[in-house]
Amino acid sequence: MKKQRILTGITTSGTPHLGNYAGAIRPAIEASRLTGTESFYFLADYHALVKVQDPVRVQRSTLEIAASWLAAGLDPNAVWFYRQSDIPEIPELTWLLTCVAGKGLLNRAHAYKAAVDKNVADGEDPDSGINAGLFMYPVLMAADILMFGAHKVPVGRDQVQHIEMARDFAARFNHIYGEHFVLPSAAIDDSVATLPGLDGRKMSKSYDNTIPLFAPPAELRKLIFSIVTDSRAPGEAKATEGSALFQLYQAFASAEETAGMREAFADGIGWGDAKQALFEVVDRQVAPMRDKYQSLIDQPIEIEAVLREGAIKARTITVPFIAELRQAVGLRDLCELPGKSKNPGAAAGQPARQASFKQYRDSDGKFYFKLLDADGRQLLQSAGHTSARDVGVLIARLKHGVDGELRHEVALGLHLGSEFLGALSEDVGMGDVIEALATFAEAAG
Ligand code: TRP
Repeated sequence: MKKQRILTGITTSGTPHLGNYAGAIRPAIEASRLTGTESFYFLADYHALVKVQDPVRVQRSTLEIAASWLAAGLDPNAVWFYRQSDIPEIPELTWLLTCVAGKGLLNRAHAYKAAVDKNVADGEDPDSGINAGLFMYPVLMAADILMFGAHKVPVGRDQVQHIEMARDFAARFNHIYGEHFVLPSAAIDDSVATLPGLDGRKMSKSYDNTIPLFAPPAELRKLIFSIVTDSRAPGEAKATEGSALFQLYQAFASAEETAGMREAFADGIGWGDAKQALFEVVDRQVAPMRDKYQSLIDQPIEIEAVLREGAIKARTITVPFIAELRQAVGLRDLCELPGKSKNPGAAAGQPARQASFKQYRDSDGKFYFKLLDADGRQLLQSAGHTSARDVGVLIARLKHGVDGELRHEVALGLHLGSEFLGALSEDVGMGDVIEALATFAEAAG
C-alpha cells in the first residue's frame, strides 16, 4: 500500500513560541517516527510575505524556525524538510490552480473576509489596504499540499477552511484535466489543544502574549511569572478549569505530575509556587534543546545545507509532477503537435538520418544505454538498471514519442515523467535530445 503522506507548513513570520512547540513541532516530530507514514514539513516563507514586509525579519524567522525543528529532534533524513521558496514548481502550480479556483470561493475565505468586514465596519473601501497575496493565500497553500499528494494535513481549526478549498481546487482540476491530484483532508488533533498565552487567550504572535521557545532561563522564568492569574491567596482552593497556568503545566508535565498539580490546586497552592513548578517542567524539556538551537543559530551554514539538500530531494517529486501537469493543461512541446513533421529532411523526400541507442552491460552488472545523434555524438548516458528489460522498455518509450514528458534540470538530470533517465553530455541541451528522438518517430512514420 502507498504510504500515507502527512504534510504541514509553518509560516516564517515570527519567533517560535511554546504554543508552536507543543501544538505543532512536538507532535509532528512524534508522528514522523511512526512507520507507514511519510512526513513533509516545510518553511512557508512565501506565505510569510503576505504579512511581513520586513526582509530581515523574514530571514531571521526562517533561520529560527528551521533551527527549532532541528533542535527539537527532527531528523531531516527521515522526513522531507524543505523551504517553500526553494521549490519553483510551487508558484508554478499556484498559477495552474489559480485558473481553476473560483473567485467567489476565495471571497469567502475567513482571513480575507475578516479584513474586508473590518474595512466596511470602519467605513473604508472594502479592499482598502488589502494585498492580493492575502486573497490568493489559500491557492498558494493548496499548491503546497497538492504538489506532494498529501493525504492528511495536521492544522489548527482556523486552517480547516483552507484544506477544504484545496480539495475543491483539486477536484475541479481533476474534473477538467483528468485525475492528477490526491484530495487532502484536514487532521485536527484535539488532544493537542492550542496553548493559552500570558493573558489567557490563545498563545499567538498577533496577541503579543507569547513565551519564546528558546528564551534564556531567566527570561523564561520572568515571563512565566507574568502569566495572568486570579487574586486567590495561598491556601484558597483554585480552579484548574480555565487556568492558563494549569493548561501550560499539563502540556509539559507527565500524567502523574499533572494529577499532583490538580490536587495542589484543590489544596490551595500559592500562585508563586505553581509558577515555579511550571517553570521547572518547561525548562526541563527545553534546556537540552537550547544549546543545540544556539549552535545552529550561530552556524547558519549547517541549516542552509540541510535546506538545500531538502530542496533537491523534494524536487525529485515536484519536477516530474509539474511536467505531467504542464502536459495535462496544454503547456506542451510544439514539436509534438499531432501530425506535425519533426524532420524537414524526411518531408522533402530525403532519407531520414537516424539517431541511435547503444545498450550494454557494465562491469557493475547493471544495464545501461547511451543515446547518440545521427552523427554518432553521445547525447545521453543513462542511469544503471537491474534488468535489461527495463532498459528495453525505456528505449521503446523514448522512441515512441515522449510527448512533452521530458524534463531537464541541472541538479537533477533528465527525467521522463517521474523516471530518472540519466545525465546529458557536456554541451548537449534538451533540444538536441528532442531532435534525436524525433528521428525515430519520423522513421516509424
Ligand atoms: N497557513 C498555515 C498557517 O498559517 C501555514 C501553511 C502554509 C500550511 N502552507 C501550508 C499549513 C500547507 C499546512 C499545509 O498555519
